[in-house]
Amino acid sequence: MTTQILQVEPFDLVVFGGTGDLSYRKLYPALFRRHIEGQLSPGTRIVGVSRQRMSRDEFAFAVADALKRFDPAHVKDSDALEAFVALLDYVTVDAGGDAGWADLGTILGDDPARVRAFYLATSPELFGKIANRLSAHQLITPAARVIVEKPIGKDGASAAAINDALGAVFAESQIYRIDHYLGKETVQNLMALRFANALFEPLWNSGHIDHVQITVSESIGVESRAGYYDKSGALRDMVQNHLLQLLCLVAMEPPASLTADAVRDEKRKVLQSLLKIDAGNASERTVRGQYRAGAAFGEAVRGYVDEVGDPDTVTETFVALKLEIENWRWAGVPFYLRTGKRLPERISEIVVVFRKAPHALFPSSAGKVHQTKLVIRLQPDEGIKLWLMIKEPGPGGFRLQHVPLDMSFAEAFGVHTPEAYERLLMDVIRGNATLFMRRDEVEAAWAFIDPIRQAWAESKEAPRPYVAGSWGPSASIALIERDGRTWVEDGE
Ligand code: BG6
Repeated sequence: MTTQILQVEPFDLVVFGGTGDLSYRKLYPALFRRHIEGQLSPGTRIVGVSRQRMSRDEFAFAVADALKRFDPAHVKDSDALEAFVALLDYVTVDAGGDAGWADLGTILGDDPARVRAFYLATSPELFGKIANRLSAHQLITPAARVIVEKPIGKDGASAAAINDALGAVFAESQIYRIDHYLGKETVQNLMALRFANALFEPLWNSGHIDHVQITVSESIGVESRAGYYDKSGALRDMVQNHLLQLLCLVAMEPPASLTADAVRDEKRKVLQSLLKIDAGNASERTVRGQYRAGAAFGEAVRGYVDEVGDPDTVTETFVALKLEIENWRWAGVPFYLRTGKRLPERISEIVVVFRKAPHALFPSSAGKVHQTKLVIRLQPDEGIKLWLMIKEPGPGGFRLQHVPLDMSFAEAFGVHTPEAYERLLMDVIRGNATLFMRRDEVEAAWAFIDPIRQAWAESKEAPRPYVAGSWGPSASIALIERDGRTWVEDGE
């Protein structure tokens, strides 16, 4: 099966933080792959911007080097690499001052119709300053747009301040807030599954669904990001954005259309319907953990405290939550979420567990009757499995078996699954904001998260320890087992 590539109009992409880790690891490789696929039109320009003094050629060399390191499989074709680096330009700009902005203006020119996207791959403290400078130097044309990375703030108040600063110079329709989980292929497949099939939607409610689990586990520790991570923690780094966005896509009402606002209206309603978690119920509904020394892939690894070099740190590296959505569709259906670093494997998956069959028809000799489960696997091995009970083939006694109807995307389509950033960057250029977060969504997510943080701070309890390489603190298992349920592991 082949996929159809539609070329986008020539555009200018200006990357602030253009010599940073995110740009080298994710943005340039994503653009390079779109270039190889033939999606970038001749005349497209990618302009790296940072404080660092370097020439265009030095920048082009650094990008080529990054592509070789982070995407060696695609760099085999040296003609393609050469053609890609020819699209690059570089300007040294002082984000807080005036130096360099005029040079950037000269490079960009003044065609009002040409798409111009400013990617702010910088720390969020610079978002407002850069937006302000862009406006002062009259670089915001009618076709301009700005892309910002998470974290958008560290709480509701700081997110609102960032949004105000961006909103002072850009219209909301020009602001693209990235949550790269929304660009993952299977996340969009979740929309197709729900809304392009008549089968699931009638069952997608408390009458038929027992509960939902969302797991985003990582085997890595904090690596080189201890400085950022220790001020953030798993709740802000993963739950406020990625996990809540997944929850929204599972739980939202069918939007009237796929326009950005129709989808985002429905997602916002989910966030606003979440049962509040605060000091009154945080101990029953939340678990936070921090990894101790243990093993990852058979190798001994240090505990979090040693990795960040602070014996007193109480930053959580694991969170499990039991959420409820207070609306007609979901009343009484728990959504269990968990995420953490240094867990046994890297898995992101959504498991929708249906209710038990109402009548026990089969004798106990037939074996256990499992609940029907729909497992939506984001990574690795993207795909969807519907676990059903069938009769074990053969004559003789009647025995039941639990087997999946398995749709592995790699096998079904035999194509390379694009990285989230590939899709999201092209969506910005096309002006499609459906997979980006609107201001009110981000702020509604913080409004849910802030009281949890406050409850944790007031409780004075430290995060519960767990051994690196385990599935988190035992309290996470207790959180779900208290309700007579268990975490689904290995997709079964
Ligand atoms: C980022 C977090 O947003 O997502 C990281 O800041 C995390 O801490 C990463 O490792 C996970 O993304 P992915 O795509 O590898 O699952």
